[in-house]
Amino acid sequence: MSENRHGLTLAAGLPYQTGFGNEFATEALPNVLPVGRNSPQKVKRGLYAEQLSGTAFTAPRAHNRRSWLYRVRPAAVHRPFEPIENNRLVGDFSTVPKTPPNQLRWDPPPLGIEPVDFVDSLVTMAGNGSSDSMSGCAIHLYAATQSMKDRFFYSADGELLIVPQEGRLTLATELGVLDVEPFEIAVVPRGVRFAVTLPDRSARGYVCENFGALLDLPDLGPIGSNGLANPRDFLTPVAAFEDREGDFELVAKFGGHLWRADIDHSPLDVVAWHGNYAPYKYDLRHFNTIGSISFDHPDPSIFLVLQSPSDTEGVHSLDFVIFPPRWLVAEDTFRPPWFHRNVASEFMGLIHGAYDAKEEGFVPGGASLHNCMSGHGPDAETFEKASNSDTTKPHKVDDTMAFMFETPRVIRPTEFALKTSQLQAEYFECWQGLKNNFAKENNA
Ligand SMILES: [Fe+2]
Repeated sequence: MSENRHGLTLAAGLPYQTGFGNEFATEALPNVLPVGRNSPQKVKRGLYAEQLSGTAFTAPRAHNRRSWLYRVRPAAVHRPFEPIENNRLVGDFSTVPKTPPNQLRWDPPPLGIEPVDFVDSLVTMAGNGSSDSMSGCAIHLYAATQSMKDRFFYSADGELLIVPQEGRLTLATELGVLDVEPFEIAVVPRGVRFAVTLPDRSARGYVCENFGALLDLPDLGPIGSNGLANPRDFLTPVAAFEDREGDFELVAKFGGHLWRADIDHSPLDVVAWHGNYAPYKYDLRHFNTIGSISFDHPDPSIFLVLQSPSDTEGVHSLDFVIFPPRWLVAEDTFRPPWFHRNVASEFMGLIHGAYDAKEEGFVPGGASLHNCMSGHGPDAETFEKASNSDTTKPHKVDDTMAFMFETPRVIRPTEFALKTSQLQAEYFECWQGLKNNFAKENNA
């Protein structure tokens, strides 16, 4: 056994449980989990039983998520919350400035030298809906230079889909510890308390806070029973706890605002738990990419990793899509993503390398936003190259990992996103070189 920097008792290395949304059962000390019931009159070792619900009690069984936690002290034990002044986070997107239909692109946020932890570094770039309505999402960036010390965080507004771009994160959560590195993603469910430590000097990345229904794996339709993100590759931590007292701070994101409360112990004191509402991580390099083996570039729905279902069949309130390394070969086909305008809105980020529709300008840690019906596609140089390459020669799109948060509602940039010096004012220029190639005579 060893202790990590949060003092959590761990086996050497980080063990995980595999599978997506399984009924997990895990205990850091033997024989603590009650057998055959959830809430015995007395829990072993003087622990408290506490249920954590992620869906309505009466949600259909296939979507119903909850876990039972056996902990040193109930989550209710803390002093009252008071608001933290913070104008970097937005939770209601009806309050942001008028949304321009322009194509928008940003440079990465700088990693400063000032010490700032994960929570304090969060800034909202865009989103839709509101945390109060439990619908829509907020897209934040983080750029942290120090670990959270004696400080714990949870969001009551939504589950947090964390996409590291640079630097590893250790997420010490109530339900166990996850190590996450770039090319991996982590999801921390709504309400789960956690602290972020930085094994490297700094860490930068993206967070999509999903106000809506919990992220789920998509149906595969004619693809069959395997492919895309396979359930066995999702990893959930095992129980790990610390019984530590001191002058600590609990930060809550609630109603779009941050709140703080004094807490005289670590809330990471869950000794055992069972259930299907828990944090998880997934290595994007395990994604089984599906594509055409004849002609044409299929719709990007083939790159779907996770989705938040809506009440309309086939329409998701949030899609998490990746563009991983893959082989391309096709007959008489324009191979990069084609020009398009979609009813959906697309916020893209780049984890590593270059994106095949834009070789320059879109850099790792940066972002772009193409909203409902705003035309976009390859830049002039990429178009020229792709129009003249031999598409029947296999080509590996390599050394890349781009992703997209896609929603059926307009994604509204915040005042910060529209005013920051990272906004690239000249982005529109990349399409201005697309020439009129129309042959008026019928000899082309
Ligand atoms: Fe697009």
